[in-house]
Amino acid sequence: MKKLLPVYKNESIPKLQSESGPQHPKKSFYIETYGCQMNVSDSELMTGVLTKAGYEITNDINSANVVLINTCAIRENAEEKVLNRLEHLNAIKRRNTEMVLGICGCMAQHMRTMVLEAAPYIDLILGPDAYRSLPQALDSINSKDTFVNLKLDKSEDYADISPIRKDGIRAWLTIQRGCDKMCSFCVVPFTRGRERSLPIPMLVKEVESLVDEGFKEVVLLGQTVNSYYDGTHNFGDLLFAINQVEGIERIRFTSPHPSDATKTMIDAIASCEKVCKQIHLPLQSGSTKILSDMHRTYTADEYRELVFDLRNQIPNLAISTDIIVGFCGETEEDFQKTHDLINEIRYDSAFMFKYSDRNGTLANRTLKDNVPEEEKIRRLQTIIDLQYRISHEINQKRVGETIQVLVEGESRKSKADYFGKDDTFKTTVFPRKNAQIGETVNVKVHTASANTLIGNVTS
Ligand code: SAH
Ligand code: F3S
Repeated sequence: MKKLLPVYKNESIPKLQSESGPQHPKKSFYIETYGCQMNVSDSELMTGVLTKAGYEITNDINSANVVLINTCAIRENAEEKVLNRLEHLNAIKRRNTEMVLGICGCMAQHMRTMVLEAAPYIDLILGPDAYRSLPQALDSINSKDTFVNLKLDKSEDYADISPIRKDGIRAWLTIQRGCDKMCSFCVVPFTRGRERSLPIPMLVKEVESLVDEGFKEVVLLGQTVNSYYDGTHNFGDLLFAINQVEGIERIRFTSPHPSDATKTMIDAIASCEKVCKQIHLPLQSGSTKILSDMHRTYTADEYRELVFDLRNQIPNLAISTDIIVGFCGETEEDFQKTHDLINEIRYDSAFMFKYSDRNGTLANRTLKDNVPEEEKIRRLQTIIDLQYRISHEINQKRVGETIQVLVEGESRKSKADYFGKDDTFKTTVFPRKNAQIGETVNVKVHTASANTLIGNVTS
């Protein structure tokens, strides 16, 4: 049985190998972000912290004085990607000996010893609750030690720190940090600590300043975003409050937990005109036995009923999901239940994963990762094919419709085209003509694939 690595408090530990590190922290920084939107939002927070302390952001990794890698630990391949990247960063560091290299985020928290063994040249390791201390950490860096702060702190909500975002149409707003759910497969409660929410008045103010900065859409972020509770108000109240903010045009959120779906939440999505009619509702498995082993706290039937209620009250609601195949003990019959539920619900889209055993989780400690790799791959491919067909069919039905698209920018494939999203979060591409980035235009759809709608602006 494996053990979770100990969480180290604010401390400096000796480097495993001596390297000539920088003597003084310098003034430019570069952040590379891996993983989920919460990490994107955390990188914006770090940008805010460092800018306030006098550092300047740069896009040139080769000349940056400080390079921070904001990492993800959710699956093994996410960690492998970072470990591979670190070798390249070390090569840059050898050329630029003044460079400070830091690892932040979930992987830092999850594998601190491993990270140090694999990359002893790292100067700084910071967990998700330690970003406030970034300037002090950089000040204290020396050539002998690796600065480590992995302290998880339930009281840290960064409420007083203003993130600095890249200009754009869509802003990510963290409304809650941490997770109290303890799904048996998931490393997040260990890397991000206990759940805490920011107060509604502060979030409303933040959305007002996003409007002033030119953002049109806000995406509220939390690991179980709908368990939001600021001591007085719940998630539905928050949606109603943000819906009142003048100038914000669209509100989305990710990801709600099925067990935290309340009547107020459903009412808020149904009745707030700015809340998009789209929900990402992670299912994980269609087998109640597997859901129970995953500690997901709902049955397949309860999930089914929730989808029924949502669709009943919110016509044309787009639903997406997360699925894990090959979890410990998943039989062919369990898998078939997942397959059949996907087929029954007909999601607009889905993120689908093979189960990845994570050190320290309950599943890692008490269950056997016993579905063979080839079988995991087969199951994954089977539902990817199924979902592809469903997404394609759903999108085909949109052909001929005129939809409202918030224009985000130039299409990746052609400078002559713009792209944007409709209310249901479908990517839509169209010849740009007179459309402006940031405006909402009517697009008549003439072609659809599983991932994209293509059309022409009609007004
Ligand atoms: N509550 C978070 C979940 C973050 S993880 C949110 O909704 O934003 C995102 C998805 O990764 C999960 O829903 C799950 O489907 C998948 N996942 C998490 N841990 C995993 C693991 N050990 N192996 C495979 N997939 C995993
Ligand atoms: Fe992970 Fe489950 Fe929380 S998936 S983030 S423990 S809701």
